[in-house]
Amino acid sequence: MSGQGKAEGEQSSLPQKKEPASIDKSASPSGAQSPPLTIIVSQATHSDIPDICALYKKVWDEHKGKIPAEFEKTWQPSPLEFTSQMEGVTFFAARKDKKLIGILGCAMADGSARLVHIAVEPEHRKLGVGGALVASGIEWAKKSNASSIWTEPLTRFTHAIQLFKKLGFQEAGIFHRHLWKEDVQILEIVF
Ligand SMILES: CC(C)(COP(=O)(O)OP(=O)(O)OC[C@H]1O[C@@H](n2cnc3c(N)ncnc32)[C@H](O)[C@@H]1OP(=O)(O)O)[C@@H](O)C(=O)NCCC(=O)NCCS
Repeated sequence: MSGQGKAEGEQSSLPQKKEPASIDKSASPSGAQSPPLTIIVSQATHSDIPDICALYKKVWDEHKGKIPAEFEKTWQPSPLEFTSQMEGVTFFAARKDKKLIGILGCAMADGSARLVHIAVEPEHRKLGVGGALVASGIEWAKKSNASSIWTEPLTRFTHAIQLFKKLGFQEAGIFHRHLWKEDVQILEIVF
């Protein structure tokens, strides 16, 4: 990637404060500077639902036939299905030029925060967007007074596991044949 990244987070669920989430990627491998990539991370609202569903469709269409059919169905919700998925989950959206390019859900349960359903548009990967979303989730969890934050990608999603580890998550074990017969990697940060 050759862009310079800068993300600003505006977490409207939290007391009015603007939270810059830095995803600084300063220079290309050649040393050439590119125009800054400005990504805004903010809480998603119901008006984002059509764009979120379109993003999930695009992202998981890439995996069509390679993941169990149950995943395709669950991870590509209709707007109506996603509306109910939003209940009790704070979704953060990453936008570039107002276009939604990434999404992540954060849910509190029993004092612990869980990250769900991260996805970044294929054209905007490896630019720090996923990192900015996860950083917003961690910030949200801390401000929500969570004792820990955890997530459970399929073990086969090594790119996602790398992403979470880069943001400080540590491996905490594997649940075998846990999700439609797929192993999942438990990752956590204990605050
Ligand atoms: C996983 C995903 C969200 C990452 O988003 P992203 O915006 O590309 O992530 P970032 O640019 O912030 O990458 C941060 C780090 O994650 C890791 N990473 C991201 N993509 C990777 C890849 N394809 N291979 C290996 N590591 C990868 C790297 O450590 C990277 O740091 P680096 O750029 O310094 O190498 C994105 O690939 C995606 O949407 N994939 C499809 C959906 C999916 O698999 N979701 C996970 C379900 S649990």
